[in-house]
Amino acid sequence: MNSKTIDIAPSILSSDFSQLGQQIRAVEEGGATILHVDVMDGHFVPNITVGLPVVKSIARSTTLPIDAHLMISEPGRYAEQFVAAGAKMVSVHVEADNHLHRTLMGIKAAGAAAGVAINPATPLSSLAEALNFADYVLIMSVNPGFGGQEFIATSLEKVRQLRRMIDERRLNVRIEIDGGIDLANIAEVVAAGAEIIVAGTAIFGTPDPAVAVRELRDATVEWV
Ligand code: DX5
Ligand code: ZN
Repeated sequence: MNSKTIDIAPSILSSDFSQLGQQIRAVEEGGATILHVDVMDGHFVPNITVGLPVVKSIARSTTLPIDAHLMISEPGRYAEQFVAAGAKMVSVHVEADNHLHRTLMGIKAAGAAAGVAINPATPLSSLAEALNFADYVLIMSVNPGFGGQEFIATSLEKVRQLRRMIDERRLNVRIEIDGGIDLANIAEVVAAGAEIIVAGTAIFGTPDPAVAVRELRDATVEWV
């Protein structure tokens, strides 16, 4: 029996932005515990989404902690501004930051949890040192940039290996997984060691996002 806390983190990327407040209300009702906001710059990833003003507005209208996933080049220039805008968790990509230690320390000093995100083809070895400074690692199980992509199956083993690295070193680092998560694979990723589960399409692509959150949580229940 596993005693980890599992967080379900809906990604608003797949929501109807013209109804954003109502969509957030729905996932709150469904039992979401974190709200995942994907920030893309059209440079680090081939897509553009939302930024600081949107995080600021959402932070005023929800009690859920906002998890800002920065898919941007030179994230160190902006990370602390996302904390000031109301994000309680901010992750930056290991591939995008030459000064990761400084960025992670800056996020923490500003009062949020600091995360390192890692692309599917980037090896876990690139995190060996950063694990000492991060509060969580975000494993990308699709290539970042778009919702609705298929889960990359090798991500499961990556989560298992990362779990081992963290446990062997007795670190207090949580594992988040993002991309292609649905009812069919959520139990497996939780069993592999993921604790924060991001889902976009599997929640906002359904007629009833509240029910979708509940079903995803129920599917993890044997591991909680
Ligand atoms: C992709 C984003 C994800 C995305 C997940 O770059 O980081 O958060 O919204 O969407 P789904 O769950 O549809 O794969
Ligand atoms: Zn994301």
